[in-house]
Amino acid sequence: MALPPGPSAPAVVSTLRFMRRPLDMLAQWQARYGDAFTVRFSGFGTGVYVVDPDAICDLFTGDQSDLRAGEANSFMEPILGASSVLVLDGPQHLRQRKLLLPPFQGSRVAAFREVIREVAEREIAGWRPGTELVLRERMRALTFEVICRAVFGVTQPERVERLRKRLVAVIDSSPIFVIAPPARADLGRFSPGGVFARRMRAADAVLLEEIERRRLEPDLEERTDVLSLLLCARDEQGEAMSDSELRDELFTMLGAGHETTATALAFAFELLLRNPAVLARLREELEVGEDDAYLDAVVKETLRLRPVIDAAERTLTVPRTVAGWELPAGVKVYPAIALVHLRGSVPARARVSPAAVRRGRSRVVLVAALRRWDPALHRRRARARRDRRGAARGDTAGRAATAARAARPGRRARDHVGAQARRASRGRAGPAGHSAGSRSAGSLSAIGPR
Ligand code: HEM
Repeated sequence: MALPPGPSAPAVVSTLRFMRRPLDMLAQWQARYGDAFTVRFSGFGTGVYVVDPDAICDLFTGDQSDLRAGEANSFMEPILGASSVLVLDGPQHLRQRKLLLPPFQGSRVAAFREVIREVAEREIAGWRPGTELVLRERMRALTFEVICRAVFGVTQPERVERLRKRLVAVIDSSPIFVIAPPARADLGRFSPGGVFARRMRAADAVLLEEIERRRLEPDLEERTDVLSLLLCARDEQGEAMSDSELRDELFTMLGAGHETTATALAFAFELLLRNPAVLARLREELEVGEDDAYLDAVVKETLRLRPVIDAAERTLTVPRTVAGWELPAGVKVYPAIALVHLRGSVPARARVSPAAVRRGRSRVVLVAALRRWDPALHRRRARARRDRRGAARGDTAGRAATAARAARPGRRARDHVGAQARRASRGRAGPAGHSAGSRSAGSLSAIGPR
């Protein structure tokens, strides 16, 4: 069974490239190989990225029993634990999901709003005009505090600090401990594996201590934090979760919810500050306070333009046709969230169809497509389109660029006027500081009904 085409570089090269610039690499591979492409990664094996929304829809609807999410995520087990909902499949996964359900029902989640508001207001109260903030760090501090309160139910500042110190030490450890099992070998106190093992033990100890302390709280049944609800939850046999299951789910929620949400929030600031009209409207809508429709749109558009997670993961247990390709069992399938969100950035004609590749015309189609998709030509055409629109409106950018071309000055002057025109036109559309966002950053200003 042939896999879709993909980079022929050794796995270690693809892995390093991907780790350095994940979104750029994914976009490049898609532009080169089409809507399904195969990448070999060190430590993760061979995976097929799927970008076509219809193929992803086929994958996620109907029978899922041959798709293993837990198996695909099993590299996280050394940190999250063997009972984590993220690394389980089948009936065990279902059991954990059912136990986790009560704390994540609508009304319970709505009750977290107040906790989140309080933590956010306290965080912002410490910000001073004129001082520099590293948004990602501030957002990480904020989301950690929210998780401590809403999930772990811990509010005392010194206990929050203790949790932060020990858990963040694990989360911030090098990814090498996750992807390369030999790196975890405990070869003594000062070996990297020894330091990592000590951090893990310290984190486990503090979590187990919080679980024990909560179990003994007299008001356990009235409490609304996730840990208290999980301590009261029972499965179909009337069994409660064990301490190690609780530890693993707490770690999972921290691992899955802390960094993701912090990154999304930091990008929300970035996009809103680049789009003052959207920020003004958001403030207005929040002050009027009728509903959260606009806020919801801003959140969703932020997550679309700046995807936090590049792909979901599934391992095939039996051969399956995905995006027109007969994939063998054991292959990982990556529904490419980030590429689906940014779809349209790559011209349709630059994509290669699996059928064409199978007929052996892949190189020809690919080379022709790449030739047609000359980035410089693309930029020139986009600029010309912008200038035409600008000229029709008679605005500054259009005039500057049209004048630049009409006068055909020397290279320096032309570049200067061209740059001015580009700056002016970026001002309208919203500039992009992100590899994949230049086209889409402007679309944030189109959120919501006009
Ligand atoms: C912007 C924020 C977030 C993003 C982008 C995000 C994204 C994701 C994605 C893509 C998956 C994999 C889904 C799949 O493979 O089917 C996932 C799973 C999961 N997430 Fe999140 N997540 C976010 C926040 C959170 C938060 C705040 C929590 C908990 C406090 C959380 C807990 C989980 C859990 C427990 C799973 C595993 C579910 C299962 O396997 O059944 N996530 N998330």
